[in-house]
Amino acid sequence: MHTEREEQWRVELSALRAHDLWRELQVLQPVPKRGPPTFVGAQGELLLSFASNDYLGLSAEPALRDAAIAEIQQSGVGAGAAPLLGGERPAHATLADALARWLGVEAVLLFGSGYLANLGVISTLVGRGDRVYADRLNHASLVDGVRLSGARLHRYRHGDMTHLAQWLERGGRGQAWIITDGVFSMDGDIAPLPELATLAQQYGAGIILDEAHAFGVLGTEGQGTAAHWNMDIHGVDVIMGTLGKAFGVYGAFVAGSQDVVDLLRNRARSFIYHTALPSALTAAALVALDLLRHGDARRERLTRHRQHLRAQVPDAPWLASETPIQGLLLGDARRALTVSAQLRRAGLYCPAVRPPTVPADSARLRITLSAAHRHDDIELLATALREIL
Ligand SMILES: Cc1ncc(COP(=O)(O)O)c(C=O)c1O
Repeated sequence: MHTEREEQWRVELSALRAHDLWRELQVLQPVPKRGPPTFVGAQGELLLSFASNDYLGLSAEPALRDAAIAEIQQSGVGAGAAPLLGGERPAHATLADALARWLGVEAVLLFGSGYLANLGVISTLVGRGDRVYADRLNHASLVDGVRLSGARLHRYRHGDMTHLAQWLERGGRGQAWIITDGVFSMDGDIAPLPELATLAQQYGAGIILDEAHAFGVLGTEGQGTAAHWNMDIHGVDVIMGTLGKAFGVYGAFVAGSQDVVDLLRNRARSFIYHTALPSALTAAALVALDLLRHGDARRERLTRHRQHLRAQVPDAPWLASETPIQGLLLGDARRALTVSAQLRRAGLYCPAVRPPTVPADSARLRITLSAAHRHDDIELLATALREIL
């Protein structure tokens, strides 16, 4: 006898399977000595991954590992408490200061993850009576932050400044906020930040920018989208960056004015009520920051990989992107799963991304490149794609 509740779960699970939207964890074991992007899969097969956001290949850097181990020996593994209740260590403060100096902002606050940071920033700064204008392809954590804030959400067509201007023109009560990814996580294209800043100024709106996929990848010293467009970073009110992607570690931070950071430290519930990051991660992130700032050679390698891949498979249904996120638009979920499985048989790990992560009928392969890839790795991928597509 199943309860009604259990019956409902089963119906929901069978619907996921029937629509090719079922998800499973894939266990990947890095190969000793070689490390990522080479892994051993669950069936013992050797897999070259094109799925990681470790764009600069820092996650396996010995210098990061050594810094983390040294900090663990000094301070232990877990922070043991919330940041405001005894969980803050010198390594946290050192990292926050270094991040603020790197970006030239007044202050930085560390968060447990980018997801928590986005929830905290938006629910603290955006009020219930405010208006939020958000790109339709913004990351789920930004959407969830707006939901939590209770503000009215207006989603403009992806990258469409005319549509955004129309929304802003209509006006309304409360403060206006423009919220956008810097680099869009599933398409890989770059937000038109100068135009967003002009509109923000024209209509008195604030800007919240999510640099999860931009920091380390774009601009001088990897300073992100504003640097990419040669724009003053102070044209943006609040910037979120994660330590889990190009930094190769885990955690996140918010950069802005001293007032913004003071407000978040005092009001952001996802900051106040979370256990502080393990300080070993912040020690590793400090080393990562140095490598990332001086990472021009890695960024150039990434550009060469991208250009080579596109040149080798010119006729594939690529999404337009100048970043290491290279999407192959395949449409329906079944087709994306099939191509992903064919690649896997060729020793290449490149998962299908399906709704609701991407809009309906836009299932795709999200291929991500890393400076840790070798030229031969890109060749292997290009050959397999030519054969399969
Ligand atoms: C655009 C964007 N924002 C925020 C996040 C969340 O960051 P984190 O993985 O640190 O929670 C991600 C990562 O998944 C992302 O792609």
